[in-house]
Amino acid sequence: MLIAPSLLAADFGNLEREMQWFNQSHADYLHLDVMDGVFVPNISFGFPVLKHVARLCRKPLDVHLMIVEPQKFIREVADLGAYYMNIHFEAVVHHHRVIQQIREAGMHPAVTLCPSTPVALLSDIIRDVDMVLLMSVNPGFGGQKFIPQTLRKVRELRQLIRETESHALIEIDGGVNLQTGQQLAEAGADVLVAGSFVFGSQQPAETIDALKALS
Ligand code: DX5
Ligand code: ZN
Repeated sequence: MLIAPSLLAADFGNLEREMQWFNQSHADYLHLDVMDGVFVPNISFGFPVLKHVARLCRKPLDVHLMIVEPQKFIREVADLGAYYMNIHFEAVVHHHRVIQQIREAGMHPAVTLCPSTPVALLSDIIRDVDMVLLMSVNPGFGGQKFIPQTLRKVRELRQLIRETESHALIEIDGGVNLQTGQQLAEAGADVLVAGSFVFGSQQPAETIDALKALS
């Protein structure tokens, strides 16, 4: 299993220290949650903080934009050196165009679905994206409870990917721990985002290893 710990649950007063152990861990990506107070009812951090983190982080960045009009920030996200630019399906009208623009900017396009957005809406873009992120909580806050219907969506998405011969990875975000992680692994997830479960644990690097071992 690939693991993308979410910085949202880190100690923001000690980002350098957090990034030191993180860089030495077996995490696959660093997941960065950008919130604008419009698309979601919360505000997290913006580009000044992201630039600082990007300089400190030695892992590929998975930038999850919970913002309206994410297409306005393609250049800024590319300048961070982001690996995935993850935009919400619900925040964009011209998905095909924006996905192409993200790729032209040198990043891997990823699209995120809120819990109430059906997987079937992806059928015409599934071959154009490198990853689909299914939210397993309503976006905006860390530490929420996993929504169990996500497991059915993972199976549905796995089938869509198979049918369309897409290479997209399936990523899940929200309420991930060892129990939900095991269920998600069995349903066909490729990448797990984990915020509070990793950063809130006594031995975060070992927690990452335990999640990575799920299959
Ligand atoms: C929620 C964010 C998540 C969040 C997950 O809107 O997209 O990435 O950090 O936090 P946990 O793992 O605590 O549910
Ligand atoms: Zn996220």
